[in-house]
Amino acid sequence: MTAAARYTGRAIVYHWTMAALILFLLAQGYAIDLGPSATKAWWVNLHSAVGVVVTLLLLARIVWRIGHRPPDLPDGTSALVRASSHAAHMLLYALMAVVCLSGFVNIFARGRGIDFGLFQFPAIMASDRSITRPADTTHIILSYSMAALVLLHVAAAVWHQWFLKDRLMLRMMPGAE
Ligand code: HEM
Ligand code: HEM
Repeated sequence: MTAAARYTGRAIVYHWTMAALILFLLAQGYAIDLGPSATKAWWVNLHSAVGVVVTLLLLARIVWRIGHRPPDLPDGTSALVRASSHAAHMLLYALMAVVCLSGFVNIFARGRGIDFGLFQFPAIMASDRSITRPADTTHIILSYSMAALVLLHVAAAVWHQWFLKDRLMLRMMPGAE
């Protein structure tokens, strides 16, 4: 595979760092309510602190991505596949943004800040359930939607790798030739 057909090193670092953190947030977010209530606040704070890191990476990635086109898909890729792959990637970006935003509204409208150990985001408002309810619902529904789209995204990658055998996955792999 030629260098031009691959994602750049920076795109690969953004993709895999954020994919790992987001998969962690999805799993840990769903597990929060399964644990004992005494430690729930600690886990919600951890979730929010990791969420802040994802949000900062996302902002940097979007600004960078606006100036950098992804590599062209292989010749012969149909217009329908090109359009759906592009739409799915744009939808993933949009879901990452709205899930993060609704997370911030959710935590701040509970009257809480975020504790990073060495420093804190202070609470910026009093608890307001008329805001936390819709923010919570939005965060839950959209994070489930994102999980579904990520499953489809991974299924597409596996399909290319194992059934079409077109080495498309190598475009996003570090150190691949
Ligand atoms: C194990 C999990 C994952 C695998 C195997 C995977 C695989 C890939 C591959 C192979 C590509 C390149 C597609 C191409 O060549 O056109 C890609 C692109 C992309 N992936 Fe993933 N991915 C995973 C997880 C995620 C997660 C969790 C997210 C975010 C929610 C994500 C978001 C994206 C986005 C936005 C792009 C498009 C990048 C761009 O063109 O700007 N991926 N992924
Ligand atoms: C892409 C990033 C994120 C993902 C994938 C994610 C995912 C999740 C999931 C799956 C849940 C559990 C939903 C349920 O109850 O079933 C959750 C809950 C929550 N998230 Fe996130 N989240 C993200 C970012 C954030 C951010 C940035 C914040 C705050 C700054 C945040 C704050 C919260 C809060 C406060 C809850 C409610 C916890 C509870 O009381 O049950 N999230 N999130």
